[in-house]
Amino acid sequence: MTRTEKDNINKRTENRHLLRRVKAGFAAVKTTPYKGLLLALYLAGAALVWLLRGHLFSLDTYGMFSPVLGAAIDLLIPLYGVGGLLALLVLLGTPWGGRVAKEGLQKAGLTNHAGEAPVLIAKRPDADSPRLTVWEFDPCGIPLNEWEDKRAGVETALNITIAKMAWGEGRKIIRVYAVPAERDFPALLRWNDKYLSPDSFVLVLGEGLTGPVTVNLAHVPHILLGGSTGSGKSVLLKLLLMQSLHKGAEVYIADFKGGVDFPKVWHQKCRMCFNEDDLLYTLNQLTAVLEYRKGRLAETGCPNLDAYNEATGEKLPRLVFACDEVAEVLDRTGKGKEAKERLGQIETKLSTLARLGRAFGIHLILSTQRPDAAILPGQIKNNLDFRVCGRADNVLSQIILDNTSAAEQIPKDARGRFITGDGTVFQGYLFDEGQP
Ligand SMILES: Nc1ncnc2c1ncn2[C@@H]1O[C@H](COP(=O)(O)OP(=O)(O)OP(=O)(O)O)[C@@H](O)[C@H]1O
Ligand SMILES: [Mg+2]
Repeated sequence: MTRTEKDNINKRTENRHLLRRVKAGFAAVKTTPYKGLLLALYLAGAALVWLLRGHLFSLDTYGMFSPVLGAAIDLLIPLYGVGGLLALLVLLGTPWGGRVAKEGLQKAGLTNHAGEAPVLIAKRPDADSPRLTVWEFDPCGIPLNEWEDKRAGVETALNITIAKMAWGEGRKIIRVYAVPAERDFPALLRWNDKYLSPDSFVLVLGEGLTGPVTVNLAHVPHILLGGSTGSGKSVLLKLLLMQSLHKGAEVYIADFKGGVDFPKVWHQKCRMCFNEDDLLYTLNQLTAVLEYRKGRLAETGCPNLDAYNEATGEKLPRLVFACDEVAEVLDRTGKGKEAKERLGQIETKLSTLARLGRAFGIHLILSTQRPDAAILPGQIKNNLDFRVCGRADNVLSQIILDNTSAAEQIPKDARGRFITGDGTVFQGYLFDEGQP
């Protein structure tokens, strides 16, 4: 594209936006009281100038020329008036910080082939989440995936933390939902029992920019948690298990790390497995329960556990099986034949529960820090629909979320900060061990 062609495109874009700003100005005077008042003051001033033009311009002193001058002034005043009105509307239709935003985005390299950066056309509080500001841009032909790729640059350019970006009005505008960078996530959010969700079976994980982040196990039955060491997986896992206990579920925990993460208080309320034999025994029990429930649901014609409990008046509890660091458990390297066979059986049981658990109220919550795709078989992983990843490298993020967003969006020094499979970043509640 030649320089002249680019200049022409830039000029046309500017004209288009001038018109848009006049229209936006019109809309703004109707919706924003102080802008309406400004316009009213301007019109009143203009009317006053018109009425008092004879006195203001002292036409009498010009003697014989006064008729000519008078006619000229009669013509000029309306012209100035209309020009001023348009200028005022453009001003009222221009969001604060538009120029700075455009320059920032230009520096961040978010430009089209004509070298144009997106144009800010409006900035307003979000109606659904009061913490968020919505920045509306004319994308100038830059597709959404390019915005996503340059997300970090956009955040720096506008000094914001982005909650999400989406198309608006078909594909005419791009909306960036964000908070000011200095007010994004608190470093610490302590858990309080009042955060417990009243809904069955909704578990609360933490707070995102748009509000609490939750998962409903009745709809999304299994969870896969990932993150490098120290990212906060065990704390999050225990937060979820504590809530499950509160809601009356039976909790089973495979802890092969020597009891550091699950002190005695957990042993009183949950069924613990400390070695492979224990684990296989527990998984056998769980699959037996699954078979039993399958039979009962079939007999009564109920599609799931909630419907069955309601129809029969029974109170069959949900069962939650958790394994912290599942890769440690399933890793076969260096194992003998017998141990490998046992691991094979463990895997088979886990994949049965992952495949069929939902309807029968049996849930898996597995966590891993190992960026090793071979460890967690596809049959299990593919059924763990709710994915959460903390601080991670590209490989681990890819394994957990099927994308690299955890590596890109979770700061290296963050603890308890996670991102879900749908791209929602949140700060997990710090749950204090004392009382599960
Ligand atoms: N939600 C949180 N908010 C603040 N700090 C947290 C949070 N979660 C964890 N931490 C801090 O991070 C530390 C490590 O957390 P945790 O033991 O859960 O990490 P992990 O991912 O399980 O690590 P590993 O893989 O080594 O087991 C905790 O001791 C705590 O100090
Ligand atoms: Mg841990």
